[in-house]
Amino acid sequence: MYDLIVIGAGPGGYVCAIRAAQLGLKVACVEGRETLGGTCLNIGCIPSKALLHSSHMAHEMHENFATLGLMNAHADIDWGRMQAYKDETVAANTKGIEFLFKKNKIDWLKGWAEIPAPGTVKVGDQTHEAKAIVIASGSVASPLRGVTVDNDAGVVVDSTGALALKKIPDTMVVIGAGVIGLELGSVYNRLGTKVTVVEYLDTITPGMDAEVQKQFQRILAKQGLTFVLGAAVSGVEASDAGATVTYAPKKGGDAKTIEAEVVLVATGRRPRHDGLGLEALGVTMTDRGEIAIDAHFATSVPGLYAIGDAVPGPMLAHKAEDEGMAVAEVIAGKHGHVNYDVIPGVIYTTPEVASVGLTEEAAKASGRKIKVGKFPLMGNARAKAMLHAEGFVKVIADAETDRILGAHIIAPGAGEMIHEICVAMEFGAAAQDVALTCHAHPTISEAVREAALACGDGAIHV
Ligand code: NAI
Repeated sequence: MYDLIVIGAGPGGYVCAIRAAQLGLKVACVEGRETLGGTCLNIGCIPSKALLHSSHMAHEMHENFATLGLMNAHADIDWGRMQAYKDETVAANTKGIEFLFKKNKIDWLKGWAEIPAPGTVKVGDQTHEAKAIVIASGSVASPLRGVTVDNDAGVVVDSTGALALKKIPDTMVVIGAGVIGLELGSVYNRLGTKVTVVEYLDTITPGMDAEVQKQFQRILAKQGLTFVLGAAVSGVEASDAGATVTYAPKKGGDAKTIEAEVVLVATGRRPRHDGLGLEALGVTMTDRGEIAIDAHFATSVPGLYAIGDAVPGPMLAHKAEDEGMAVAEVIAGKHGHVNYDVIPGVIYTTPEVASVGLTEEAAKASGRKIKVGKFPLMGNARAKAMLHAEGFVKVIADAETDRILGAHIIAPGAGEMIHEICVAMEFGAAAQDVALTCHAHPTISEAVREAALACGDGAIHV
């Protein structure tokens, strides 16, 4: 009898298993994939960051080296080596989790889990009992009507297929200007592919701050991506040579087509819980197909909990990790908690885009009086020296209390810089607290302080 069986070894599940073991519980984790780490480590965040890194180096070499005085730099792109580097990066990380499982004495039950009854988990022909079960089964790419994805054929692919194309295509159409489409679209654009992004909405990156959306689109367009916005894709016809994408302008008008060697479908993800037996157990679901949970991650079935992409909220690895730690603490009789108001979001392009808290639009819509402090990277010496000064930092604060409500950053390293604001928000800091904090010079983080200063008497370097 286990104290806890976790189903799924992605960032939500493996973190939950480790924390529960640290708290003294006897823990097993079920994973059917050959390696631990889930979508994030195997076919998501980590391999995409490897390809983003190598393609970023190539882009820097071609775009900026001559300006830096590094003449005649030229890289022959060896796609096979780049893929191998990606696979090595993934393997180093998945093996790391295997090590952590051994270190924390967590049993890896290899196979796909079913829950035939509360407190029981079946893996292959083995049945295990547990006092508590946590479902951390993640998500899969959403199908798009009229489009058949075939990652093996490598013509119409989802993010998994796009990470392992047989060759760098000459042309690519990306359907969906969300995080996946823009990160992977950037990878191939930097490697020489002509990339066209077709998006249903009139802006890229749905839900982000409107000023960020506009400036980010300008930056990506300058890098070579073409955007077709306000266009609903209705079908994709694949052939051996490529595919034809049909889309209709949302405002009305004739349907149009674009041909491409590869089509990446990046139109969102949906929770994955097929085969677990949730219907027979009578688990309550939301109308969006997520597992419904209460404030303590408990489902409608006693002893059964759920976290991560399978439950409501942003589909982010770090949100799943936080929930994994919190539910482990709840199950161990402690007080697990996730602050959903302070979950950063990062797009790992160049420059990176990072945000936390409310957008300017959402802050205004909430009826509060707000102050917005904005600082362009053109005023930041370090960003200029790096030839990446096209972004900005924007801090949004409550006009009456000065409390920080959100921040939005386009900058090299924005994904690291955002955490200063996350910590400030966790502590209920005012913009003035950040403005009065000494920031090392020359760093791009000074732009965060300047944006905070701009919420008060003004930034210095504009
Ligand atoms: P997404 O929901 O971010 O974006 C999908 C886009 O596709 C939307 O803008 C939508 O309007 C558009 N779309 C939908 N149907 C369409 C159609 N028929 N024609 C044209 N456009 C259409 O989804 P995405 O990028 O697939 O990402 C899935 C999840 O994975 C997200 O929750 C994302 O946050 C997460 N993720 C996060 C990453 C990060 O944090 N860096 C990296 C990769 C994924």
